[in-house]
Amino acid sequence: MSRKKLIAANWKMYKTPDETKRFFADFLPLVSAHDRDEMVVCPPFVDLHVALECVRGERIGIGAQNLYWKSEGAFTGEVSSAMLVALGCTHVIIGHSERRQYFGETDDTVNLKLKAALEHGLTPIVCVGEVLEEREAGLTEDVLRRQCVRAFHALSARKAEALVIAYEPVWAIGTGKTATPKIASEAHILIRGEAAKAFGEQFASQLRILYGGSVKPENSSALMAEPEIDGALVGGASLDPKSFAAIVKY
Ligand code: PGA
Repeated sequence: MSRKKLIAANWKMYKTPDETKRFFADFLPLVSAHDRDEMVVCPPFVDLHVALECVRGERIGIGAQNLYWKSEGAFTGEVSSAMLVALGCTHVIIGHSERRQYFGETDDTVNLKLKAALEHGLTPIVCVGEVLEEREAGLTEDVLRRQCVRAFHALSARKAEALVIAYEPVWAIGTGKTATPKIASEAHILIRGEAAKAFGEQFASQLRILYGGSVKPENSSALMAEPEIDGALVGGASLDPKSFAAIVKY
């Protein structure tokens, strides 16, 4: 069964609301005829409202970069999945390596966030990936297995239906070093295997696994040509409308 590719932009902590408007003014004409792939842009929280207005009537989803797993409460500084849905967001990135590295996120908080996102009908993009030392020590498979098993804990195939995974080797993020299509494919096969163990073969065969880590217009075609790679999560190269449009149209 063929899986529609998803090309997602992770803007990280870049762009103000005005810069967001300017991005879409330039980006939309470049992709208006593009319906081969699903497109999603994930700006900072403060830009979500403007971004949603910009893409109204377009085939582009807007996602957040994080959420908190409770619906509401005394949790200063946090944003819930219910709030994201109320705003009109359709997607959310969960467990990005920068969240794990700088903001104390763990496999267990990823699981809580994933369950909250699914319960509210958001499409979660759950990030997994090994750091350089783990790869060099031959631990990549163990790390990916652990991240998947814990992320999928206490979820059923039915509940997890909307799940999307992004394989992002941490040594490739923002470094200009891209995983080769072969390295990425091997990791994707392993992740798909873990999804099959947790949710069954049928689920795994439909699961979209994106690649992320220094995706650029120059390497997107080779990566997207791999049958195991179902799209991309793009950081730096998604900030420029021309470059993100070129990646979308690999
Ligand atoms: P990059 O980031 O494309 O700038 O390497 C990818 C990501 O962190 O999602």
